[in-house]
Amino acid sequence: MELMAKYQALIREILALKKKKHAIILAHNYQRPEIYEVADYVGDSLGLCEAAIASRAKRIIFCGVKFMAESAKILNPAKDVYLPALDAGCALADSINIETLRELKRKYPKAATVCYINSTAEIKAECNTICTSSNAVEVARKLKNKEIIMLPDKNLAKFVALQIRGKKIIPAKGVCPIHHNLGPEAIKRAKQEHPGAKLIVHPECQTNVLELADFIGSTSRMSDYAKKSGAKEFIVVTECGMINKMQEDAPEKKFYTVCSLCYDMKKITLERVRDALKYDQYKIEVEPDVAKKARAAFNKMFELTKLKAQKSKVKAAA
Ligand code: 13P
Ligand code: SF4
Repeated sequence: MELMAKYQALIREILALKKKKHAIILAHNYQRPEIYEVADYVGDSLGLCEAAIASRAKRIIFCGVKFMAESAKILNPAKDVYLPALDAGCALADSINIETLRELKRKYPKAATVCYINSTAEIKAECNTICTSSNAVEVARKLKNKEIIMLPDKNLAKFVALQIRGKKIIPAKGVCPIHHNLGPEAIKRAKQEHPGAKLIVHPECQTNVLELADFIGSTSRMSDYAKKSGAKEFIVVTECGMINKMQEDAPEKKFYTVCSLCYDMKKITLERVRDALKYDQYKIEVEPDVAKKARAAFNKMFELTKLKAQKSKVKAAA
């Protein structure tokens, strides 16, 4: 590929450094396509947690946003986790603070607290369990509690509420601006332009968008759906980088997108990955007591969903 030719020298330098430093590189699906070239595993938030656990490498270079690197550190206290751009944050994770969470807990004392992985370590530490976009419905269904506070994303909470009977889902007020602002009009227009295409939507979108979808799922599930589907064309509603991964996974299919850019996800560049390896920057630390409580919340999620880290997720663990 022409684009990749431009990066060849840098890619070679990163691969050599990765070997020398016994590191693995984990990358979220929304990363730039050239980052995929140096990654040992590319996936969604849940897959990235599993890959971080499964790897034997002592050093993880995490290409994503801060809550993802923090989650890898929480789950792997003995490993060194680096985020190549320290200011790669997440507006959704920042949309709730501890005071608001405690207020919700006071208001609904019998409710379980389920926090979306897109949250800070401090918020995770104060919740009963965690969910990701790929297991939110399952986690809510399997909890024994009849009342569940889901935070911070109100759209994900509404999506879960629509799938579950007999439980009260109490949403917080946060949203991911990237997904929340994708309205139904542009999607309806795209459907008119591509009448044969299946519509794939991320659950951080609003209900009036989810209602139009043929499939709703996490970023990796979106790609799996397109790969396995008999359809040849898809309209993908999420962050703009997603169709690069979907096109790579299913080169024979056609993808259109109604999307917004998550600038935080794009803060990771190959140069920054090289520097992360070369200069050991920027090391992610989570205060041990916070990490211990957040790990307990993660373990509850693994217990509810009976998930085990799959070794096969990491193709070349050091
Ligand atoms: P996934 O877990 O579906 O990859 O979602 C992460 C995310 O940040 C979506 O905006
Ligand atoms: Fe956070 Fe939204 Fe960016 Fe995902 S797309 S990392 S939820 S701001």
